Amino acid sequence: MQRPQIWHYGLLAQSWANATEAGPEGEYYKKLIETSGQPALDLGCGSGRLLLHFLQDGLDVDGCDYSEDMLAVCQERAAKQGLSPRLYAQAMHELDLPQRYRTIFACGVIGLGGEHRLTMQAMQRCHEHLRSGGIFAFNYTVRWNDPPAWLARLPENRQVKPEGWPASSERQLLADGTELEMVARSLETDPLENVATRQMRLRLWHEGVLIREEVQTQRLDDYSKNELVLMLERAGFSDIQINGDFSDEPATADHHELIFICRK
Ligand SMILES: C[S@@+](CC[C@H](N)C(=O)[O-])C[C@H]1O[C@@H](n2cnc3c(N)ncnc32)[C@H](O)[C@@H]1O
Repeated sequence: MQRPQIWHYGLLAQSWANATEAGPEGEYYKKLIETSGQPALDLGCGSGRLLLHFLQDGLDVDGCDYSEDMLAVCQERAAKQGLSPRLYAQAMHELDLPQRYRTIFACGVIGLGGEHRLTMQAMQRCHEHLRSGGIFAFNYTVRWNDPPAWLARLPENRQVKPEGWPASSERQLLADGTELEMVARSLETDPLENVATRQMRLRLWHEGVLIREEVQTQRLDDYSKNELVLMLERAGFSDIQINGDFSDEPATADHHELIFICRK
């Protein structure tokens, strides 16, 4: 496969217009940019959830994302705030940008797409795009603290496919007054390749009438901590540090997010 299989398109991309809170990850990456240096690159910036906060705070940060739909949301939100970010539509494994950075960070991006080889290439492209001594950081959500994801590897569970759609849930109000209903299901888990496939069904409602339905599919890579360390080393990084849950504490098995920080 030459392309990451992600589901950040169409209605799903539109739903990200509502995600505006930067959360603890925003604080964490902001501090990292301030200490590691600028210019910085928000790799997989999506709708600009973090990027726009950083630009408002006066940081010099560019954005890059594979999904043009996510970038369109980012652009629209930026224009409303009087910002004009440099945005690039590129897959991270093919990253080819005009400038070199002191910090590259990827929030919620590593582990999406379903192709370990492309992630390896992405790490090499990040290494190439950093100035000497520059920092690459990303968070990775571990699957072992997610019981359904972990249990889905067992023979009796991985053969039940595809599972049905869960009952419809709450609807999210969009800016134009329509309502968005989102439900997700597992399609397949392949423990040999360490890849899970999930689908999202999105339904757009207007005054009780269904006006659009989409199904998007995403593949998720499963990595161990040590595998990611080896990949980073192979890409040329050193001084690899792993913290837990957007804190300065070293990662433990009880953390849900592993934060990798390494140096060119
Ligand atoms: C979960 S969203 C996170 C967006 C943003 N970083 C944030 O924290 O709000 C993941 C983003 O990564 C992008 N993405 C996934 N795989 C990518 C790849 N291989 N290259 C570039 N962008 C990618 C998706 O299009 C999506 O916008």
